[in-house]
Amino acid sequence: MLCRLWRQASVAAVLIFPRATTVAFAALPPTHKTSVIKNLSTVGTGATSLSATGTTTNGMESKIEAATPVNGIPGQDIKEEQPVRNPITESSTVLVVGGGRGIGLEFVHQCAGRGATVIATHRGSDISTDLKTFMDDTRYNIEALSLDVGDEESIANAAKELKARLGDRPLTHVIHSAGTYMKGMSFDGTSRGGRPPQPVVTKEDMMTTYLVNAVGPLLVAQAFAPLMGPAPGSDEKHLPVYSILTSKVGSVYDNTSGGTYAYRSSKSALNNIAKSLSVDLAGEASVVLLHPGFVRTDMTGGKGLIDTPESVSGMLRAVETTDATVGFRFVDFKACIIPW
Ligand SMILES: NC(=O)c1ccc[n+]([C@@H]2O[C@H](COP(=O)([O-])OP(=O)(O)OC[C@H]3O[C@@H](n4cnc5c(N)ncnc54)[C@H](OP(=O)(O)O)[C@@H]3O)[C@@H](O)[C@H]2O)c1
Repeated sequence: MLCRLWRQASVAAVLIFPRATTVAFAALPPTHKTSVIKNLSTVGTGATSLSATGTTTNGMESKIEAATPVNGIPGQDIKEEQPVRNPITESSTVLVVGGGRGIGLEFVHQCAGRGATVIATHRGSDISTDLKTFMDDTRYNIEALSLDVGDEESIANAAKELKARLGDRPLTHVIHSAGTYMKGMSFDGTSRGGRPPQPVVTKEDMMTTYLVNAVGPLLVAQAFAPLMGPAPGSDEKHLPVYSILTSKVGSVYDNTSGGTYAYRSSKSALNNIAKSLSVDLAGEASVVLLHPGFVRTDMTGGKGLIDTPESVSGMLRAVETTDATVGFRFVDFKACIIPW
């Protein structure tokens, strides 16, 4: 009980008086440092002024750059620093789930451009023309793998096939981009919350969206996380990185406009699934949740504020800054921390 109070007080002090507690943090016993780091990661606030060295549960030295909101609108002004700690290189093997089009396709392109071997999943037997074009480009090392995230048998078959293809080579990165946005979104079809009338959300919209956006990513993680491992000869801090594309729309804090029941709730569920994964895979893989911004793709009907190259290069900065010393977080393409 006393320990718990002490740990909670430590975290509160760090958040409220970051500068003063930088010095105090250095004097904490290792177990308390670990707890403060963990709790700061959990709080997930952006960081400006605390930087301290601690010890993680596996005994590694870790540098934390934690956070104090400074005049910040959460998710807009609270940014993390993103030095390249864990780069994607020729030694990396990256699985992009949903790599046939949209944001996933651009992840395939940019990871292959860094020299990584990339396995891009697509549904069914047809490979999109855009993915095929990248696969045919001799500068890149890209393979295709059929996988439907809503189908357990398809996931199991894909994992079995990839395991056979990889042999001893581990997957260093999984980037789960696949997702769906269905049209049904409103409470009762009338204008509410200042929004124009929209189709009523149905049970089918809810269940299908939940299957693809929340259940599917968990089933995919169960099948593919066991294939992950650090690149041969890499630094012990270079844990494999499991990245999942969520959406700011799944942030309960950010929900001021209502509606969008199926998509919002599926992404909120996904966020909690990812949090559990981050705990359960601790020491095996680092987990990060990514928000791509409002991106011009099929999902948005071509509307948006940015195109896929800008979104993906920003998210890859977050991926490449993620190693064993960085806690689980929900971060966007501009390095802004998104509140839950
Ligand atoms: N675009 C945005 O502004 C935005 C904003 C926030 C979050 N996001 C998230 O970013 C991710 C990528 O979005 P996007 O804009 O690139 O969407 P998109 O252009 O609609 O592409 C969706 C991707 O998901 C795949 N997919 C859908 N259902 C699948 C299933 N059952 N099994 C396997 N793959 C499936 C699609 O594969 P097929 O080609 O086989 O259909 C496609 O590769 C999604 O998770 C989305 O929620 C996007």
